[in-house]
Amino acid sequence: MARYAKKPINKYTQPTDANRRVQTEAADVDDIDLQQAILKFKNLQEKQKTPLKNQRTKSKSPAPQQGNQPMDYSQFTFTSLKVIGQGSFGIVYKAKVNETGEIVAVKKVIQDKRYKNREIQILQELDHSNIVETKHAYFTYGDSPDEQYLNVIMDYQPETLHSFNAQFLKQQQLLPEIQAKLYSYQLLRGIAFVHTKGICHRDIKPHNVLINPDTNVLKICDFGSAKKLSPLEPNIAYICSRCYRAPELLFGATNYTTQVDMWSVGCIIGEMFNGLPLFLGASAVDQLVEIIKILGSPSKEEVLSMNELYDIKQYKIVQIRKKDWRKVFQTVVDPQAIDLISKILTYCPRTRLTALQALTHSYFDDLRDETTFRMYQSKIQIPDLFDFTKEELSNNQSLANKLIPKWYQKRNKC
Ligand SMILES: Nc1ncnc2c1ncn2[C@@H]1O[C@H](COP(=O)(O)OP(=O)(O)O)[C@@H](O)[C@H]1O
Ligand SMILES: [Mg+2]
Repeated sequence: MARYAKKPINKYTQPTDANRRVQTEAADVDDIDLQQAILKFKNLQEKQKTPLKNQRTKSKSPAPQQGNQPMDYSQFTFTSLKVIGQGSFGIVYKAKVNETGEIVAVKKVIQDKRYKNREIQILQELDHSNIVETKHAYFTYGDSPDEQYLNVIMDYQPETLHSFNAQFLKQQQLLPEIQAKLYSYQLLRGIAFVHTKGICHRDIKPHNVLINPDTNVLKICDFGSAKKLSPLEPNIAYICSRCYRAPELLFGATNYTTQVDMWSVGCIIGEMFNGLPLFLGASAVDQLVEIIKILGSPSKEEVLSMNELYDIKQYKIVQIRKKDWRKVFQTVVDPQAIDLISKILTYCPRTRLTALQALTHSYFDDLRDETTFRMYQSKIQIPDLFDFTKEELSNNQSLANKLIPKWYQKRNKC
């Protein structure tokens, strides 16, 4: 039941996935000038009018393992089957554990003493069905004792949302609607869990969202930029890949909240209905131009809600009207999905839906309705969507009543 694009989509060049841990893109956030962005957009409008093999070396677990009887993978040997990710920091590969035959993903990251590696500490806090499972993490050493690698052994997932989407794009098609809904839901559920821990992922993008199209399970990966945010401590603004970067980050805010992830989630949900990123800017100013093209120019209040330190006196509002969200998409999109996206993609981080609020949106009601749920289930695999824990719902009974359907509670006696 693939949806077909009205217009052919053929000019898709993915922006380079600059590794923000290495390349800070500092220049990208300097001197963001709203006026400049709006003028640039005006000018554009004017123009348009006129036409391995693993080493077994001494290893040391960085932290105790969770769960019952974890396996010590540092004792195993691996056959590398395929390199699935490579950056200046290290490598991710699909591997077979020779001793057990198990297929895993191994992320081998060189430890740079100049930077904090929070990834493994954070991953160990995140035991959830929509977060990549860390089976074990241990250090190995290279030729010199200074050369230290962190090896993270994870469950292997066959696709990312990016690679899956790209397959449809090639055929000038979009993801089937039900899959878009299931992935949106699980992405929100995973992010909601991360946020209940006070952790901000800070690099949500389709490459960091793993999926299995057979089971339709979704898992968030790559916590290399993640951080537990504390309200009193400023954070760097030059995080997150540009197309998914929240406007408050483009304004250089350093007191941002976990809501920056929600902006990225909104972009990803929109992208599933669009094929291409909603906001595809070539620089930080361009990124803002792309956002303004759809959301219109922000009011003074909105600018201050994004960055209270912004020099508002120099901002003379040039009214650019917001676009009708229905016209943003190349196909007819479910009005409920549009309503959800428009409530996530707001300038003001405080009025932007939180992940838990978004999960309660009526767009997902047909997943909670037994009849439609069964109908979907007769067509495709649906993972468990309602096995919420009390912690996940912050002990909120009314949330539980909304998010865990009665028929599911009855069936599972919860
Ligand atoms: N558990 C996994 N299963 C399958 N592929 C993975 C897994 N973890 C990562 N990958 C792939 O490796 C790529 C890089 O891994 P990631 O953790 O995002 O590191 P980074 O983006 O820092 O290079 C991902 O975009 C994804 O394609
Ligand atoms: Mg990544």
